[in-house]
Amino acid sequence: MSRRKQIYEGKAKVLFEGPEPGTIVQYFKDDATAFNNKKKGTITGKGVLNNRISEHLMIKLNDMGIPTHFIKRLNMREQLVKKVEIIPIEVVIRNIVAGSLAERLGLQEGDQLSRSIVEFFYKSDQLNDPMITEEHITAFDWASSQEMDEIVTMTLRINDFLSGLFFGAGIKLVDFKLEFGRIYSNEQVTIVLADEISPDSCRLWDLNTDEKLDKDRFRRDLGSTAEAYQEVARRLGVLPRNTNNFFDEKIN
Ligand code: TMP
Repeated sequence: MSRRKQIYEGKAKVLFEGPEPGTIVQYFKDDATAFNNKKKGTITGKGVLNNRISEHLMIKLNDMGIPTHFIKRLNMREQLVKKVEIIPIEVVIRNIVAGSLAERLGLQEGDQLSRSIVEFFYKSDQLNDPMITEEHITAFDWASSQEMDEIVTMTLRINDFLSGLFFGAGIKLVDFKLEFGRIYSNEQVTIVLADEISPDSCRLWDLNTDEKLDKDRFRRDLGSTAEAYQEVARRLGVLPRNTNNFFDEKIN
C-alpha cells in the first residue's frame, strides 16, 4: 500500500492525499461489506477490477460531457481524482425491479419498470442510509434545488449512456448508485460525478440468462463473486481474455 498520507478509510476504498493540491488518491481494496457492515468478506482481485472498470466508465462518461472527479489511473489499485466536497446523498437509479425496491413494495425481482426511477438515500452508516426525498435534501441544506436538478439530469443521462454501453457488452444494467461532489474554483461551484462505478455499486445481469454479475453474489452467498467481476471487466474489454498473472503485479 502507498506511503502517502491517509485521509480516510471507507469500507471498499482508502483515500490518500494526492501529489498536487486539490487531488486525492483513491486506493481500491478487496474488502467487501454488505447490509451496512454486518456482513464482511474479501473478494480477491476486486480492488484491481473495480479500479479498471471505474476508470473505463468514468473516461467514457467524461467523453460524453459528464464532468467527473476522475483524472487518471496510477497503478493496479490506485487512481488520481479531483478532491471534491461530497454531497451526502446516494442517488440510486433503477430500470428493473430488484433489491430494496422489491422488498419495500413487495414487487417481483426482475420486472421491467415502465420508466426509470430515481431514489435518494442519506449517507449515514449510523442511520443505515435512510431513504429520503428532495424535500429533506433541500430543507436540511444537503444540496440546493438547483443542484438537485443538475444531479437528476446527469443521473438520467448517465443511466441512458451506461444502459447502452452495458447492453453492448451483453449485460442488463438493472440499477446503480451514484455519488456527486462539489468543486469550488473562482467563486464557481461545479457538480461532478465522484466515488466509483463498479459491480460493487451496480446490479448487472447477463442479458440472456439474468445471471448476476455483481455484488449480489456476495450479498446473497451465490459464490464465484471474483469470477463475476472478472467477467464484467472482460466484457467491457478492460481485462485481456488470456491473462494468467493479472493480479500478480506488485504495488508499492
Ligand atoms: P438497493 O436495492 O439495495 O437499494 O441497491 C440499489 C443499488 O445501489 C444497487 O445497484 C446496489 C447499490 N448500492 C450501493 O452501491 N451501496 C449501498 O450501500 C447500497 C445499499 C446499494
